[in-house]
Amino acid sequence: METAKLIIRGKEYDLPIIVGTENETAIDIRKLRDTAGVITYDPGFANTGACRSAITYIDGDKGVLRYRGYPIEELAGKLRFSSAAYLMIYGRIPTEDEFLEWRKQLTLNSFVHASQVNFFDNFSALAHPMNILGSMVSSMSSFYPYDADDEDHINLNIQRLIGQVKTIAAFSYRKSVGLPYIYPRTDHSYAANFLRMMFATPAEEYVVPKMMENALDMLLILHMDHEQNCSTSTVRMVSSTMSNIYASVSAGINALWGRLHGGANEAVLDMLNQIAQDGANYMKYVEMAKKKDDPFKLMGFGHRVYRNFDPRAKILKTAVDDLLNEMGIHDPLLDVAKNLEEVALKDEFFIERKLYPNVDFYSGILYRALGIPTEMFTVLFAIGRMPGWIAHWMEMRDDPDLRIQRPRQIYVGKNLRHYEAED
Ligand code: CMC
Repeated sequence: METAKLIIRGKEYDLPIIVGTENETAIDIRKLRDTAGVITYDPGFANTGACRSAITYIDGDKGVLRYRGYPIEELAGKLRFSSAAYLMIYGRIPTEDEFLEWRKQLTLNSFVHASQVNFFDNFSALAHPMNILGSMVSSMSSFYPYDADDEDHINLNIQRLIGQVKTIAAFSYRKSVGLPYIYPRTDHSYAANFLRMMFATPAEEYVVPKMMENALDMLLILHMDHEQNCSTSTVRMVSSTMSNIYASVSAGINALWGRLHGGANEAVLDMLNQIAQDGANYMKYVEMAKKKDDPFKLMGFGHRVYRNFDPRAKILKTAVDDLLNEMGIHDPLLDVAKNLEEVALKDEFFIERKLYPNVDFYSGILYRALGIPTEMFTVLFAIGRMPGWIAHWMEMRDDPDLRIQRPRQIYVGKNLRHYEAED
């Protein structure tokens, strides 16, 4: 067996080496503390493998992203969202019959519990849709308790989660604009149902534009999984306590909301608007982003794993051009985004640090073209990510190495001192 040698204070330790199917190599430190009495220090876990996973493969240096072995370029824009969700969770592309049955079940299980619908009335008018989504998903555990050892129960609750996340999202929007709720139909695809629930009125038939349905399918698939990102790691962290699937996934939704993660898509739009209103002075914003003492960053730029390009951003950039051309839309913010990208990519700071546009840079322009309001962007990310979170939750349940997740720390506080009470 290949091992790594570690020498601490003159003493040698042999640590086993683990190699993944794509040759990713890790040093197995599980016995480190017991044998050598030390721990590792890795804030942000940039060098820590928390699990073995067979779901998604990323090569950040080469800009490679694969779901269950399939390159993202062969899935996004080619598969329907429901098919890709099945692939993500069950590990293979469904047959035609399986696909039709699965799609039907996702719709039949997409009705929000009637008592839960009342919840929408009680959120503050200021509630962000991500706040509503996280709370509603968390509350699903009280409506749908399940037997964790029963596979049928688990599968039913998976269908509920994927089915209802889009209903909750659409209802929160309808509530905010004072429109009546619209329910999904079994003769519509997942993406078409979502668009219908967002934009139809009960007064007339709503025909979902095909190009919008296709664009939404592609967007959702691009966001479906990204191995151990912050929200997925959160889902794993929470479920390592044996908490239920709804509690685990709602924790993931809250992690996604942050603007360094999924919240970046909303922040990008705010930034592009600000740049446009401020005279399109790109250099000013690039310079601001470089300043150490300025909290401003170029939103939609940079990535923990991709150090070359983000393949999702590449697909999206082409898709934005295609969709806007097809719809006959000219969005001035697309010009702002492209100009900003060009200026940043020529700058030594961004070149040296290998900072490129990520998935959130162009996705907002596409959402805008679909008529999705800016505050719903991160909710769309969550709908796309749902099958990924579930796949990780499932994989974790069967992982023989599973232990409650509980990192260590290096204590840097006061040494022992004593409190003496005054007489
Ligand atoms: N603008 C300006 N400087 C940046 C940016 C940026 N967007 N991203 C990274 N840097 C700098 C950073 O200041 C650091 O500089 P230095 O070496 O001088 O200290 C260097 O690049 C390395 O960055 P880091 O912060 O150590 O990288 P990280 O892996 O910890 O963070 C990130 C990754 C995505 C949080 C970060 O790049 C960022 O904040 N980007 C903007 C927010 C964003 O677009 N988030 C979406 C991420 S992709 C989709 C998702 O996860 O939801």
